[in-house]
Amino acid sequence: MHHDFWHQRWADNQIGFHQDTPTPLLLKHWPSLGVAPGTRVFVPLAGKTLDMAWFAAQGYRVLGVELSRIAIEAFFEGHGVTPEVSESKYGTHYRAGDIELICGDAFGLDDAALAGCGAVFDRAALIALPADLRQRYVHELYARLPSHCRGLLISLEYPQHEKAGPPFSVVEDEVHALYARDWHVETLERRDILSTQQRFIDEGVTALDTVVYRLLRRE
Ligand SMILES: C[S@@+](CC[C@H](N)C(=O)[O-])C[C@H]1O[C@@H](n2cnc3c(N)ncnc32)[C@H](O)[C@@H]1O
Repeated sequence: MHHDFWHQRWADNQIGFHQDTPTPLLLKHWPSLGVAPGTRVFVPLAGKTLDMAWFAAQGYRVLGVELSRIAIEAFFEGHGVTPEVSESKYGTHYRAGDIELICGDAFGLDDAALAGCGAVFDRAALIALPADLRQRYVHELYARLPSHCRGLLISLEYPQHEKAGPPFSVVEDEVHALYARDWHVETLERRDILSTQQRFIDEGVTALDTVVYRLLRRE
């Protein structure tokens, strides 16, 4: 998916993926990961998700990466804080309290950028990417996360021929094929959410599940 696509979505405020509250499945399943407060949580393709504020409120530190300056500035404005801004080879860094957001390309992050992260939270990130980029995303970006890392991944599954992505359908077999090299993958919950997603129904989608996975980095 070209960067221009996402910049245009933010410029046009076409951000149906954004939620006005933290993700309920995050609140339900995160405690089962046993991630210690103080851990730095990586939030790839972060948008302006309130999940980042939830992590900070639980005592975690957050590192997000997001292409759109509009999204990042809206996130901090929404919380009434003025971040410190600096530049690096990764992009523009916005820092306030325990939250650091890099305005840049997630694929430009290297081992050093992610070395301090002990956890990862992926909602509407893997599934935002087309198949060829999903492979790079997991085998290059996730592969840079340190060995003790653990995480939560939330995906969507629907008949892909019924609708064009994003979000794309990423079925369990693909999740295992993508992650099994470097991660133990465990399915925590599968939920039929079609009746709650009118936009999918309007587009003719006949089945829609969300699936939550626990990821544990192999040593
Ligand atoms: C579907 S949205 C999800 C945002 C957020 N995870 C949420 O739950 O609201 C995907 C986001 O990824 C961003 N994005 C897409 N490609 C990216 C890339 N290569 N690097 C950083 N951000 C990217 C887009 O700008 C968009 O805000």
